[in-house]
Amino acid sequence: MRSVLVLNGPNLGRLGSREPDVYGALSFKDLVALCEETGRGLGLAVEVRQTDDEAELVKWIHEAADGRVPVVLNPAAFTHYSYALRDAISQRTAPLVEVHISNPSAREEFRHTSVVAAVATGTIAGFGFQSYVLALRAIAEADS
Ligand code: DQA
Repeated sequence: MRSVLVLNGPNLGRLGSREPDVYGALSFKDLVALCEETGRGLGLAVEVRQTDDEAELVKWIHEAADGRVPVVLNPAAFTHYSYALRDAISQRTAPLVEVHISNPSAREEFRHTSVVAAVATGTIAGFGFQSYVLALRAIAEADS
């Protein structure tokens, strides 16, 4: 079965209690369950991780590049300024879909810039947790 990493950046572990008006009432645990269930339906072995640490996220992107593993990535605030993350993504060897729960383009000006979008395969934003479902579907189809 094809493996997929679903990687999440800072503050996403606090989903449910974090700004529920923006990110909804469901928890990170709920997101993990949704991604795993979606993966099962698509025949993908999905592993979901979250970190608040830029270095750890970069390390996971390297791991995916070395293993030719597709990635669904919500870089959270790193989206807007992490050139280290962008340089890591540039080394990808399989599809990588950037996802966002909210639509950053409809929010504060600093969120309008993604320094990673240009090196991702594509971006899905603004569909709540469904952004992850759509990204997993895109990866399943890209693979087939
Ligand atoms: C986010 C959007 C980012 O601007 C923000 O910093 C996040 C979450 C989203 O999923 O909507 O932490 O990536």
